[in-house]
Amino acid sequence: MRLTWPGRQWREGDPAPTSILPAKALTTVEIAGDPGAAHRLVHGDGLDAIGALEAEGLAGLVDLVYVDPPYASDRDYVAEARLDGPADGRARRTLAYEDRWSLERGGVGAYLDMLAPRLDALTRLLSPRGTIWVHLDWRAAYLVRALLDEILGRDAFLNEIVWRRAPNLGRQAASAQFGRTLDTIVVYGREQATLRPPTRLEPIEPGAIRWDDEGRPFTSAPRGDYSDASIAKLDAEGRIHRTKSGRVYIKYFLAKNAEGVLCRERRVDALWTDIAPLRHAAPSERTGYPTQKPRALLERIVACATEPGSWVVDAFAGSGTTGVAAHALGRRAILVDRSPVAIATARARLLRDDAPVRVEHTAGTRAPEAKGVKVQLEDDRVRLIQPAEPLAWAVGTEERGVFRAAWHAERVPGMKPVPAVLEARVPCGPNFCVRVFCDDGSVGSWGRARAGAPELAGGAST
Ligand SMILES: C[S@@+](CC[C@H](N)C(=O)[O-])C[C@H]1O[C@@H](n2cnc3c(N)ncnc32)[C@H](O)[C@@H]1O
Repeated sequence: MRLTWPGRQWREGDPAPTSILPAKALTTVEIAGDPGAAHRLVHGDGLDAIGALEAEGLAGLVDLVYVDPPYASDRDYVAEARLDGPADGRARRTLAYEDRWSLERGGVGAYLDMLAPRLDALTRLLSPRGTIWVHLDWRAAYLVRALLDEILGRDAFLNEIVWRRAPNLGRQAASAQFGRTLDTIVVYGREQATLRPPTRLEPIEPGAIRWDDEGRPFTSAPRGDYSDASIAKLDAEGRIHRTKSGRVYIKYFLAKNAEGVLCRERRVDALWTDIAPLRHAAPSERTGYPTQKPRALLERIVACATEPGSWVVDAFAGSGTTGVAAHALGRRAILVDRSPVAIATARARLLRDDAPVRVEHTAGTRAPEAKGVKVQLEDDRVRLIQPAEPLAWAVGTEERGVFRAAWHAERVPGMKPVPAVLEARVPCGPNFCVRVFCDDGSVGSWGRARAGAPELAGGAST
């Protein structure tokens, strides 16, 4: 199976320029928390970052790749940092990333020439039990299946998961087609890949509830395609219900959900209607990064596809949802994004969750510089004067270009966002340095600069 498109470059004997260059190593710029356990946050293009990770020896070691790339939507996406709460008040808006593929820019063919080599490279990181999950919508899902068939082979296909990401309301419901309320996640796996779908509790109609002799509630269903041997096994487990006329039904014992309603436990299938859209998530989860996915979605994916300690890679990481899900479940994440707004957002989010983080960048990538950082020092007290409402800031030491955070603070989003604390009590020894992270992705520094360290020259003490 091979998809062709006008001007196709991928695997056409004319490799994209980045793929013929030897991979350059990633440069570490910050370590916050235990470096041995840190999640990696890489600022730069995915192809360069994956090449560097491969050169480091990560090929074949990653159990899960999840990516939520641009969908060829022909739009710009703006991040919105709400300083006073989600509904109204002051907001800082910054272009987070562009998803433009007009005909002048090469159309959908150019989109595929961007995506295909990145998916190709990501699959080389997969371990023998590894899976790759690509999150898309109606615009590109059908094309990406063909790409993955070509990269991994048709037999590597595992699932096409349909996630109901929005209710059928408003413009969608009023339009002249069925509401496009779904996202598609295509899943392919290496030869030993096995997913462990979770179960969920589904409420049972009261009329379908029965009680056995021991007072246990159950519901029953016809035997369906169960073999006689399976029925005998279920009978031995007390799971067979026989009607007076002798018909055989399978018993499903019931459990109460959090609201005390009797439910049947069912294995989750490929239709995911039980994970609410982000707008229904707690305001503290909503970072303001456009196209952010719900953490519950990523937790399900990470839990069913990996083991504690597994490496999880997301090369279109956005606000870092994959990273916080991986951290919560005891996995190690490598997040890559070329948008400085994404890196600043994901960094703040991971640190709010107490996740140790190593921030790196690919060759030639650097966050824009935030100028005018002002700091007040008094004994072991550090006060940030300017900017007065940062997304995040940190105090630590800087040596050979690597900032080690000893203390950090981040704004906490929510109905009433909590601004980052502006005062730290930390010793201000040699190489003392302050880093400030702004909503537009820029990073400012202030420090007891060593001569020739230009990034430390941005601020002034009072
Ligand atoms: C749909 S968003 C991801 C949102 C993310 N899943 C979340 O929950 O926040 C896509 C991301 O891909 C990034 N991106 C686009 N092209 C890229 C590239 N070539 N390399 C790395 N990141 C890229 C964009 O900056 C954007 O943050």
